[in-house]
Amino acid sequence: MNRNFPDLSVTIGSLSLKNPVVLASGTCGYGAELGDLLDFGCLGGIVVKGISLEPRAGNPPPRLVETPCGLLNAIGLENVGIDAFIRDKLPWLMGMDTAVIVNILGDEIGEYAEIARKLDDAKGVDAVEVNISCPNVKSGGAAFGTDPWAAADVTRAVKSATSLPVIVKLSPNVTDITAVAKSVAEAGADAVSLINTLLGMSIDIDTRRPSLGNVFGGLSGPAIRPVALRMVWQTVRAVDIPVVGIGGISDANDALEFLMAGACAVEIGTATLVRPGTAVGIVEGITAHMESRGVPAIKDLRID
Ligand SMILES: Cc1cc2nc3c(=O)[nH]c(=O)nc-3n(C[C@H](O)[C@H](O)[C@H](O)COP(=O)(O)O)c2cc1C
Repeated sequence: MNRNFPDLSVTIGSLSLKNPVVLASGTCGYGAELGDLLDFGCLGGIVVKGISLEPRAGNPPPRLVETPCGLLNAIGLENVGIDAFIRDKLPWLMGMDTAVIVNILGDEIGEYAEIARKLDDAKGVDAVEVNISCPNVKSGGAAFGTDPWAAADVTRAVKSATSLPVIVKLSPNVTDITAVAKSVAEAGADAVSLINTLLGMSIDIDTRRPSLGNVFGGLSGPAIRPVALRMVWQTVRAVDIPVVGIGGISDANDALEFLMAGACAVEIGTATLVRPGTAVGIVEGITAHMESRGVPAIKDLRID
């Protein structure tokens, strides 16, 4: 057997991954939380929980509600802040044989740039993923990711603050996701990842109150997969930069759909909360599919 067949490695700009399966931000903590539950060395990478300049406490509870085939979350971007992340969390991640991608967020463009600068100086970070689903405080609170111009401004600021590969994570809460994708690609993004959660809500009919403390939350899980797949398909055909597919991927067949749509890699989110080892099983399933059909490389999975 040729040990390089099939070749699961992928490159995203200057970022090299041993395989296309990555843990999605917010569903794997800072890595160590899952340290006893899965072998990080089997994965292409991990995207850590979104990090802001200062620590954040997050939203009032309840923060999670199950929905049919999905999960609504309103965590409110709770995190330890960039300095504590670099000091306390990054050393553990550096010991893992997998790519470390840091998801960053801010209320103002300057915050994104400042975090990116700090990550540029830190050792052990392989790429930055920019979460633009955050409210733009200076421009009235609409998310950066719903405005192609604001999304491009964030991208430019982060690109000029770091030499690390920059992946911009797109929000699905827009009419045309390809408009935002094109805008951030022109602004210099090395790749885009999509989708973040879809805005939703639920009401508890006994308490007659919204189920989430924050009223609205982000919907994830299998319920969003067809929407995510459609958006990935459209974006792959709209931009020339790599596209990372995210949304409801729960097994290898789901992941293969995204790779066939043209995604260069996939991120696994809610499924890890259900079964921590899901991503490792997905690597095995993709390998078996490629072996049995004689597919030499990930890019060869793509269909027209
Ligand atoms: C509990 C929870 C927390 C999340 N936190 C973040 C975050 O901090 N930054 C981010 O960009 N996305 C965050 N996400 C979105 C996921 O990374 C992913 O884009 C989304 O859940 C869709 O993928 P999935 O259906 O596989 O979960 C979070 C999702 C969940 C469920």
